[in-house]
Amino acid sequence: MRDLVLSPRFAGSVLLCGVLAACSSTTPGSTFDAGSPPADGAGGGDIDAAGSIDASTVDAGGADASTPAPSLLARTPPMGWNSWNRFGCDVSEDLIKQMADAMVATGMKAAGYQYVVIDDCWQVSRDASGVIVADAARFPSGIPALAEYIHAKGLKFGIYTDAGAHTCQNRPGSRGHELLDAQTYASWGVDYIKEDWCDTSGLDPKTQYAIMHDALATVGRSIVFSLCSWGNGAPWVWGSVTGQLWRTTGDIADNWGSMIGIVDSSSPHAAAARPGAWNDPDMLEVGNGGMTDPEYRVHFTLWAMMAAPLISGNDLRSMTTATRTVLLNPGVIAIDQDPLGIQGMLVRDSGGLQVWSRPLAEPGARAVALVNRSGSSASITVNWSEIGLAAGNASVRDLWLLLDNGPTPDAYTAIVPSHSVVLLRIVGNEPPAPTGTAYVSDLPWTFAVHGYGPAERDHSNGEQGASDGHTLTLGGTTYAKGIGAHSGSLIRVNLGGRCSTFSAKIGVDDEMGDRGSLSFEVWSGADRLYSSGLMTGATPTKTISVDVTGRSDLRLYVDPGFDNYDYDHADWAEAQVTCQ
Ligand code: GLA
Repeated sequence: MRDLVLSPRFAGSVLLCGVLAACSSTTPGSTFDAGSPPADGAGGGDIDAAGSIDASTVDAGGADASTPAPSLLARTPPMGWNSWNRFGCDVSEDLIKQMADAMVATGMKAAGYQYVVIDDCWQVSRDASGVIVADAARFPSGIPALAEYIHAKGLKFGIYTDAGAHTCQNRPGSRGHELLDAQTYASWGVDYIKEDWCDTSGLDPKTQYAIMHDALATVGRSIVFSLCSWGNGAPWVWGSVTGQLWRTTGDIADNWGSMIGIVDSSSPHAAAARPGAWNDPDMLEVGNGGMTDPEYRVHFTLWAMMAAPLISGNDLRSMTTATRTVLLNPGVIAIDQDPLGIQGMLVRDSGGLQVWSRPLAEPGARAVALVNRSGSSASITVNWSEIGLAAGNASVRDLWLLLDNGPTPDAYTAIVPSHSVVLLRIVGNEPPAPTGTAYVSDLPWTFAVHGYGPAERDHSNGEQGASDGHTLTLGGTTYAKGIGAHSGSLIRVNLGGRCSTFSAKIGVDDEMGDRGSLSFEVWSGADRLYSSGLMTGATPTKTISVDVTGRSDLRLYVDPGFDNYDYDHADWAEAQVTCQ
């Protein structure tokens, strides 16, 4: 079968660089802090003097010291409601309480929506001790009482601040008060903090967000940290160390063009998403009136396909049936919340007729969105080969029409109206599991996201088209077999529960000299099995052996390091699985 290789269409801010040629940095000001404390208590692997890790002695989530364990908060994308998109500065305790009531009464809570977040404008000043003060006219009972009210409903409470000295509406921000604010919010019962990026001229996002992250680490309360630098400073590179979700773009507006523009800017960073770490393409506009119902279905579908946080932004007290049908669709929510946490990707685009695919935890399952961005109705076909399924029958459920089709052989076609979508849950057959000892470069890849140029089989990465790499070379040794990837990369293969060990020699290919900065991770299901920590071209080759006994899938990630995507020719030399 054909490999599935999906190419993120990097936005103009990311420059291509040639093999062995200098590349321009895409993230000025970004620096790597190898000494950052683990977010949630990193495990530790056994590291021998040569720097190799025997991962059979590493517990799930274990890593060497430079990489924190995956966040245990927000293992699936956060779901909730935020005041900004619909109410702007017009917030009050009555409004927030009514929204919490409506979240329960409408079934939103039962569907998984959890966080009730007050955005900007709740705060007015600081007191003599520097403690932030809420607007007493609008919040007469105080924020702690509001948090208590929300908690009593079985919901969680979120609040807004800003990394600068002032928020976007010129209220007091957290700059210089991070520790006090973190302590204050924790004492008030806050479960979620969104930190905005206004009034930050000359500041570096990675550095500034780390200050609040470090403060939150001291307060003894689990608080989800939502970074809102609008994509500044390339948060998809470092955001998972600092928080659980990071905005990838500027603000959404309630119209088709804005929503689609955000999809196109955010989706190229798909390889960064995984359990506990999410690209955030901004809050939902569903139900606010600026798009048609089918356009809102496209919006909600693509947020679910992108494993985006589902933070509703409408008036929950007065939802139309059409709005409820979108926000409460259990099949679509289940795709967003799939435990593998793989961010789906655009597989094919022909004149605005698009096929998006996202692998799901159930073996053989894919979410597929057929999106029509063109001006007229059209038929769109998805072929099993382009979503990494073996040929043959698959069942097809239409998640908006709530209809089961199938079994259907090899492909499925739907008529999709203009500015509309058909969302499918397809369950077919994964390609056959490997037997004996098999090189990963000889197996079908059921999903592959790549940075520059496709990941190469048995060659280094050439950054441009297919088969443009060189001989895999690590530490002066050449390898005939292996994978030449480029950050940010994700390769997935089916193990079918038949394998016991994945092994490889990993490092930056010699063709980059001592340049490049990246890390390797091995995942299966919702678990990180191995993390290399930061490696550069100067880091000795690491030999890894990872226990994959009984696992259905194997996922190999390469993440960018301190110089973003530049020079990141990542070799998984002799990558192989040992199977029955
Ligand atoms: C910025 C953020 C928005 C919202 C406003 C509030 O624009 O990106 O999401 O929080 O500030 O002022």
